[in-house]
Amino acid sequence: MSHQAIATAHPLQPLPPGAFRILQITDSHLYADPHGCLAGINTLQSFQAVLEQARALPAEMILATGDLVHDASPEGYQRVRDAFAALGLPVYCLPGNHDLPAVMSRCLDRDGITSPKLVSHGDWAIFLLDSTIPGEEGGRLAEEELDRLEQGLEQNPGKHALICLHHHPVPVGSAWMDRMALENPERFFGLLQRFPNVRGILWGHIHQTYDATYRDMRLMGSPSTCIQFTPRVDHFAIDNEPPGMRWLELFPDGRIRTGVQRLQRMPLGLDLSSVGY
Ligand SMILES: [Fe+2]
Repeated sequence: MSHQAIATAHPLQPLPPGAFRILQITDSHLYADPHGCLAGINTLQSFQAVLEQARALPAEMILATGDLVHDASPEGYQRVRDAFAALGLPVYCLPGNHDLPAVMSRCLDRDGITSPKLVSHGDWAIFLLDSTIPGEEGGRLAEEELDRLEQGLEQNPGKHALICLHHHPVPVGSAWMDRMALENPERFFGLLQRFPNVRGILWGHIHQTYDATYRDMRLMGSPSTCIQFTPRVDHFAIDNEPPGMRWLELFPDGRIRTGVQRLQRMPLGLDLSSVGY
């Protein structure tokens, strides 16, 4: 699979009528314990700092693409919900391998925060897929999830589609991370191939920026709101890039402008020698 790298853009240029901005917040890894740390970083504080940046970027909605909590605890989800609710924007969530989907939607779904399968906004249909396999780090799209996606695409031929999931559907060039990618990308891309209105695929999980095109689709992976993984190395390694989020501008003609915005500096406490997450 060949990809073409894309240069990073900057947000906050005026948007034409019908265009809108969304923010992707991913892999916040909160704990029941508000002092909980991942590789030395307090994940709650780091999450709150990224959301503070999000407040400064006018947007229509937030997409939260999984691993919202590290320990699948109701208390962790409660903190996620409180922080999101304070933004006053619709927040659409999908689960990652550290989430328990049932606990997640039971604890999160109120105050404008939901876990829908499809969000229609303007000329766009945004699909949120569950790629989790209970008890496993890797991902897979179950047949019923693929069927639902197919039906949704068939019912929205006049809309541009953005497909969101937690796991990366293409290798990112890190052996350890690519062992927990999406297990059935052939089925996924085979299905998408029938729908030329699919403009982009967006995921979390990899804790690093990935930006490419494939068959006219924009492929986007994004930094975590806490620790980052070093790109293109075969063994687990923590990077010293600051936490961040992705912004996306979706245009009525199907174009996507996107980029990553990070905190200005790394929160204190990062343990670069950490051996796993
Ligand atoms: Fe993950």
